[in-house]
Amino acid sequence: MATKHKTNKSAAAVPRHIAVVMDGNGRWATRRLLPRGAGHKFGVDALKRLVRGCIAQHVSVLTVFAFSSENWSRPADEVRGLLELFVQVLQRETAELAAQGVRLRFVGCRDAFDARLLELIESAEVDSAAQSRLQLNVALNYGGRWDIVHAAQALAASGEPFTEQALASHMCLADLPAPDLLIRTGGEHRLSNFLLWQLAYTELYFTDLLWPEFDEKALAAAIAEYARRERRFGGVPAPSAADGLRVA
Ligand code: FPP
Repeated sequence: MATKHKTNKSAAAVPRHIAVVMDGNGRWATRRLLPRGAGHKFGVDALKRLVRGCIAQHVSVLTVFAFSSENWSRPADEVRGLLELFVQVLQRETAELAAQGVRLRFVGCRDAFDARLLELIESAEVDSAAQSRLQLNVALNYGGRWDIVHAAQALAASGEPFTEQALASHMCLADLPAPDLLIRTGGEHRLSNFLLWQLAYTELYFTDLLWPEFDEKALAAAIAEYARRERRFGGVPAPSAADGLRVA
């Protein structure tokens, strides 16, 4: 029977690794006449829903963009508020996340963080290290270009021959499968310097929903769309049984 959409022939219907640009907190708050910081707080609730949704859907790795290298250029009040929110969330949620089987990792340049945030980041990573239901990577002060330069510097310092594989091994998340699906909320259609290397063959999914509105239903819709995509990784479509019948 003819199907309306191509099915995902080269991968499981559920992505192993989902990356997310959580955009639209500010607009969500402004539309409600709230300060932008309120949008970020509701954004944390959306992230908690996403974690539960990923666990329910058997996604293994989730990587979220919480603060980019470029976000320092926002008004000082908003930056201060975001950093304070990260501290509060880590204090409040780390134990609960571990209880759900979530292993936490933070990726990005840590030089700019104060001692309190650094300590919370490090203890969250250590305390959750035994968890394996979902690997949650939080990109904080992260930029894709920073990641590539940092990896190139590490490779140069190692003295290894400069190959694609050697460079890849020094990038953030090198030990994990590359993202299968990137979700960006907020209606913009760009990568904004997120995981530039790792997203080379990732399926891109954009939604107009603002991040605080993103829920289990929205996640299911993104995964359903992913399942309809045909991933070829630069190759040709895999022959199907129907193709075989036609040739024969
Ligand atoms: C982008 O929306 C969102 C951010 C820069 C912050 C995202 C952070 C969270 C959801 C909190 C997560 C917390 C932890 C501990 C991981 P925007 O402000 O650019 O929205 P706009 O495009 O509408 O202005």
